[in-house]
This record gives sequence, C-alpha cells and structure tokens, in this order.
Amino acid sequence: MSAFEQGRVRPGDDGLANTAAEKLRSMVPAAGAMAYPFLLDGFHLAVSSASGQLPPGRMVLAALCLLAATAAPLLGLACAYWMTKRAPSSFELRARRLAYLSIAAPPLFVLTGVALGLLHIPVSDELVWVAGWLAASLCVLLGSEQQRPAKSAAIAPSIARWRVTHGVAAAVILLYVAFHLTNHLLGLLGPEVHGAVMKIGRTVYRSSVIEPILVALMLFQVAVGARLAWRWSALPADAYRVFQIGSGVYLAAFIVTHLNSALVSARAVHHIDTNWDWASGAPTGLIHDAWSIRLVPHYALGVFFVLAHLASGLRGVLIAHGTATTIANRIWVTGLAGGAMVAVAIMSGLCGVRI
Ligand code: HEM
Repeated sequence: MSAFEQGRVRPGDDGLANTAAEKLRSMVPAAGAMAYPFLLDGFHLAVSSASGQLPPGRMVLAALCLLAATAAPLLGLACAYWMTKRAPSSFELRARRLAYLSIAAPPLFVLTGVALGLLHIPVSDELVWVAGWLAASLCVLLGSEQQRPAKSAAIAPSIARWRVTHGVAAAVILLYVAFHLTNHLLGLLGPEVHGAVMKIGRTVYRSSVIEPILVALMLFQVAVGARLAWRWSALPADAYRVFQIGSGVYLAAFIVTHLNSALVSARAVHHIDTNWDWASGAPTGLIHDAWSIRLVPHYALGVFFVLAHLASGLRGVLIAHGTATTIANRIWVTGLAGGAMVAVAIMSGLCGVRI
C-alpha cells in the first residue's frame, strides 16, 4: 500500500498550488470531448457527395475524422493516467474525474441527441453538448480547494464487498452479452440470419420474468460500477487500473444510453421494433446519415470496452489467485485484441459487409 493510501501523504504536500497553466492543461480532456461531435460532422461533410464517387482527398479526410472521433476516448484515458501520478488536490481530483467522464463522450453524445428528441427540445445537439462540457469544466475550475481526508484504508472492506458483488453480477450479465454479441456477429451472414437467431433469443431475454431481471441487473451493475469508479479514481493507480476505471465509465454511460434508446425511445415511445433495420439505421445506413454516424464510435467502443473491461476483471482475479503477473498481463492484452477484432467484425456487418 502506498504512503498516500495509508494517509501519510496529504494532497498538497509537495507545496505546489495548481497554476493557471496547469488548470487550463487539465481541461484538455473536456476540450477533446467538446470537439467530438465536430469530428463526426467533418466525416459527414466529407462523405456527402452529390456525384456519388468520392475524390481520394475527401476519402482520406473522412477516414481521419472517423478515426479521430473513435480514438477520442483515448485522449481522456491518457489524461486520466497522466493525472493519476500523485496525491491529488481537490482541484486535481475533480479534473481527473472529468477526464474519466470524457472517455464516455460517444455514448453521452448519443444520449444527448435521444434525450433532446424525447423531450421535444428543438436545440442543436452540438450546442447543448458544448454548453454541458463548458459548465462541467467551470465546476471543476471554480470548485473549492479544501484538503481532502485520506480515507482509503478505513473504507477498504466495504469496497471489497462491492467488488465481489460487481464480479458476480458481471458473470450473470456475461450470459446475455455473449449471446447478444454473437447475434450481432451473425449480421455478417445477413440480416435474415441475425433476425432468426434474435427471434429465438427474445423468447428468453424478452420473457416477462427474464427481461425485468436483466434490465435491473444492468442498472445495478452501472450503480455499483459508478461507486467503485468514484472510489478508485481518488487513489493512486497503475495503467491497468486506469484502463479498468475508464472502460467501466464508458460502459456505464453506454448501458444507460443503450437501454434508453432501445427500451424507452424505440419500444415504449415510438413503438419501433428494435430489429436489424433499427440497429443498422436502415435504409440510409449508419455511415451516410448525419445523425446515425454517432452510433459508429458508440457501438464499436461499446463492444470493445465490454470485452476489455471483462479482460481487466479477469486479470485482477487471476493475479489474486496466484497467476504470475506476466501471464495475467498477456491474457489481458489478448482480451483487448480480441475485443477490438469482435468490434470491427460487428461494425463491418452493421455497415453492410457480408461473408
Ligand atoms: C454493436 C453493438 C450493439 C448493438 C448494435 C446493439 C443492438 C441492440 C438491439 C437491436 C437491441 C434490441 C434487441 C431486441 O429487440 O431483441 C439491444 C438490446 C439490448 N442490448 Fe444491445 N447492442 C450492442 C451492444 C450491446 C452491449 C455491449 C451491451 C451490454 C453491455 C448491450 C446490452 C443490451 C441490453 C441489456 C439490451 C436490452 C435487452 C432487452 O431487454 O430487450 N448491447 N441491443
């Protein structure tokens, strides 16, 4: 346990108050999140061509915009890691948590668009988005600077119980996620195959007993995950822990957004069947629709982070049960690589690739 965790080192012990430049630098993740929708807009502009055939320059620009938008959460992740080096002042802790939140920009931007639609608020998504991040940045910059008590050792046992609960719930949720992602992979064989398998799956996960349990378990997992992320984000952490917290923050936002889109907006309010056409944005498709393009990073990273987050949990369990750290790390890297490949395969299917 580090000196900070034991409470022997206090925030501000290095005698450095945060300078204005340091404070502004800490807002880089929020600036990245603010830029996120404009990268999607850039992509849409680049692929919108009256003649049909895109010139190579526009194609490169489109690819760069989409790549940058999909990689935007990496900026938040890198900044959260960089901000986790020392015992934080109150300001630094707020800035660190904002960096974690910026990782969830893709699902949060989808949530913004869907919520504005549901509430019939005719304001541009981008305007609300930028205003929200500016407000959050101001809260971080102008918040109070009192000394935080170092309390990790005292509440460690209660956190340990939540960690076990989180792991057990994850094992149950994994049953649904494994089916759901396999079902989406089958989209590569065509919407009919996907639809036929989903029809069978729905008899189980949409049954009057299972569906409420599944949704409640998902929301419970989000709440417990948020509690753990809040706690862990205050402590010193290595890159593995930062990734675990960051992927969890993304997933929490993804699950809330996804359930809101599928269960509330599509099914309950608009009475739309949440089938392949709905998921793939038919007939325009995800790529060519100005609104739906936001679903590409949202879905792709949702698949990647759910598998990567599970790999992070598995790494922790393996090390706790005596597996050599080098072997556990290799399994973790394999999990991340596998998650990336599954994400690319599912997105290819959703965007029209068939095998
Ligand atoms: C490419 C990524 C994904 C796509 C396109 C997608 C799409 C869909 C669709 C179409 C439905 C409606 C299913 C139905 O009507 O039977 C759905 C429901 C759902 N999805 Fe996903 N999903 C994705 C990833 C995920 C992930 C990663 C999770 C979990 C972390 C997840 C959790 C759920 C849940 C809990 C439901 C509600 C099930 C129900 O009660 O009907 N999804 N999703």
